[in-house]
Amino acid sequence: MPAVAVAYYSAQGHTHELAVAVGEGAGGVAGTTVELVRLLDPDIQNGRWKNDGQLATLNAADAVVFGTPTHMGGYSAQMKAFIDACSGVWYRQGWKDKIAAGFTHSQGLSGDKLNTLQGLVVNAMQHGMV
Ligand SMILES: Cc1cc2nc3c(=O)[nH]c(=O)nc-3n(C[C@H](O)[C@H](O)[C@H](O)COP(=O)(O)O)c2cc1C
Repeated sequence: MPAVAVAYYSAQGHTHELAVAVGEGAGGVAGTTVELVRLLDPDIQNGRWKNDGQLATLNAADAVVFGTPTHMGGYSAQMKAFIDACSGVWYRQGWKDKIAAGFTHSQGLSGDKLNTLQGLVVNAMQHGMV
């Protein structure tokens, strides 16, 4: 049974709404399970995210969808704290060959979201994801 995890940060709820929609879409495929993994500010200490339970969910997933608001033309600092904290996973290529996808939300019609999405792609490529 394919497992999809949606790892996302949302300060004000807009990206959360997108995460719910992504989860509903993926969950609409027969036999697919979806876990929403919302990254929380209290799990970020000294600039690094840590939540072993959430990380275990991501490690067990077949696909990880990354979501973040666009902040100053890139992914949010909270998403960066999460991405950097997952460098240990990168070191052992623990997510290699998992499916990756990404989304962002911003206030502006453009808002420089492209750079955010490119940042998520580069992270996925570093992990050897598809
Ligand atoms: C620090 C900060 C920087 C932001 N930078 C941008 C930006 O570069 N482009 C843009 O269109 N919106 C920008 N916004 C607006 C957010 O992208 C927008 O409020 C988004 O909906 C927040 O998502 P959330 O509700 O999931 O937290 C910024 C907001 C904050 C707080």
